[in-house]
Amino acid sequence: MSYSSAPTRRVTTATLASLRERGEPAVWITAYDYPTAVFADRAGADVLLVGDSAAMTMLGHENTTSITMEEMLVFTRAVCRGAKRALVVGDMPFLSYQASSARAILNAGAFVAAGCGAVKLEGGRRIAPRVRAIADAGIAVMGHVGLTPQSLGQLGGYRVQGKTLAAAERLLDDVLALQEAGAFAVLLEAMPAETAAFIRDRVDLLVYGIGAGPHVDGQLVIAHDVLGSFVGEIAPRFVRRYAEVGATIEQAIRAYAADVRALRFPAPEHCYPIDAVDAIELQAASRALIEVAS
Ligand code: KIV
Repeated sequence: MSYSSAPTRRVTTATLASLRERGEPAVWITAYDYPTAVFADRAGADVLLVGDSAAMTMLGHENTTSITMEEMLVFTRAVCRGAKRALVVGDMPFLSYQASSARAILNAGAFVAAGCGAVKLEGGRRIAPRVRAIADAGIAVMGHVGLTPQSLGQLGGYRVQGKTLAAAERLLDDVLALQEAGAFAVLLEAMPAETAAFIRDRVDLLVYGIGAGPHVDGQLVIAHDVLGSFVGEIAPRFVRRYAEVGATIEQAIRAYAADVRALRFPAPEHCYPIDAVDAIELQAASRALIEVAS
């Protein structure tokens, strides 16, 4: 038996811990579909987050609160089919974990059954009992504090969080509660780099950031933000654009439409060939049909 081609080793929470030990930042990006998962996996992303931001990026909702578990699981299964190496993290949508620990465990389990290696939920101390319940069910779970889009009404909009020492201390308290409850990691969203560093220096769990500066264990970006395919008004300061996929798609479809209207597409090379004799017979039959009709 030959063992010439080594199988791809899946990123796990242990891999993430060893990245931190080596001082190497982990690369996170959202993915919601099969092709993006394949491309991100091939590009070497360590973690694919199937974010509830799919509500906005994929479904055109105004915010993240209207996406359902069923919709999240469709996106999640597609991403899990595409990710061969990356850890896939399922983002628990609004009301999939708040009401009871039993519901939180069942919904977290549905993400695991779909192929996820971990789940994420929003909140700190107030959702710590749910984190404990999910962790006790044997599921790797992480929290998310700072700007938490599912609580947009309470936060009063997309606002930077943790801008004072008192606010940073409240965030730290939330992260410590998550750690105590068994979370393996936390995501910090939209806060000054100093606040993120203040938190990271005082906790043991892995700390990732989106819009939280460089002093964390890795960076998350929303795929549509960096690829230039988000349709909407929100343009966070922390986004760096690496492509203009939206503009490229629009340009390509304009060119296609122009070719159809000008009869330039399809061209001969896009048509299936048949034998010359058969072509002559078909053309003759068509002519005969026209003669009978006229
Ligand atoms: O849903 C998501 O993509 C997220 C990020 C905004 C952090 O949770």
